[in-house]
Amino acid sequence: MDIVTTLSELRTSRAKLAGPVGFVPTMGYLHAGHISLVQRARQECASVVVSIFVNPTQFGPHEDLAKYPRDLPRDLEMLKEAGVDLVWTPTVEVMYPPGFQTWVTVEALTAPLEGAQRPGHFRGVTTVVAKLFNAVQPQYAYFGQKDAQQAAVIRRMTRDLDFPIEIVVCPTVREPDGLAMSSRNTYLNPEERKAATVLFRALSAAKTAYEQGERRAEVLRQIMRQVIEAEPLARLQYVSCADYDSLEELETVSGKTLLSMAVFIGNTRLIDNFVIG
Ligand code: PAJ
Repeated sequence: MDIVTTLSELRTSRAKLAGPVGFVPTMGYLHAGHISLVQRARQECASVVVSIFVNPTQFGPHEDLAKYPRDLPRDLEMLKEAGVDLVWTPTVEVMYPPGFQTWVTVEALTAPLEGAQRPGHFRGVTTVVAKLFNAVQPQYAYFGQKDAQQAAVIRRMTRDLDFPIEIVVCPTVREPDGLAMSSRNTYLNPEERKAATVLFRALSAAKTAYEQGERRAEVLRQIMRQVIEAEPLARLQYVSCADYDSLEELETVSGKTLLSMAVFIGNTRLIDNFVIG
């Protein structure tokens, strides 16, 4: 497994890889969710490239950039075990050299949900992913359904900017009690960790109501709100029942639909979603 930092090292190492090349961008502190993307890439591609970069431009001024968890030696061990060919760990100076002032923005799709709560977040994500795509030049790139809006935004950007890359979205990997795996779960104390299953419980309750015939979006949102409000350690930021493709809030569920939410458990902000219909 090659491990490189600079762009020229990346290009030299990338040039030696057999195609098709599969790419998994990450911010590190890897868990089974990340590894599921690597495994999917391993199955579908001749070579697998992973990037680890905690991207400062996608964090808001009051977010957790400084304390975002990091453990590079452990990450590299996990990636080696998973059969990765090339790991790129650029520095902030490599990705954002002095004078940097070019941004990639996706418009309507970034307005609601995470975009509404985290101004500038998706501008940071799309800019860094566009740069990573340009450098790595993969044929396939793998993203998690866990970050449903991010996957939709990346798919849109890839089409709009004509990147010759197929975006593959992989299922959310969960803990046995339903909590979606996330690097941020490490912030939770034991009591908060128990309370954090409330996202899964709320989504499950709405899904059950849908399966029993409920089609009124506001009723599904209300079911999710009630479950969250019953958990003393949880503070709801938003719940959504939206069209899967446009992410616009629905009145009536008919086609493919995204149930999603952001919830604070103590000071830790967690997101989760289910797809129904
Ligand atoms: P990060 O949060 O490290 O996630 C990297 C990839 O792993 C994303 O595609 C994310 O959706 C996926 N992922 C995270 N948890 C998952 C889970 N429980 N199951 C399945 N997939 C999961 O997302 C980012 O980094 C960054 O925004 C990035 C795209 C790297 C740009 O900086």
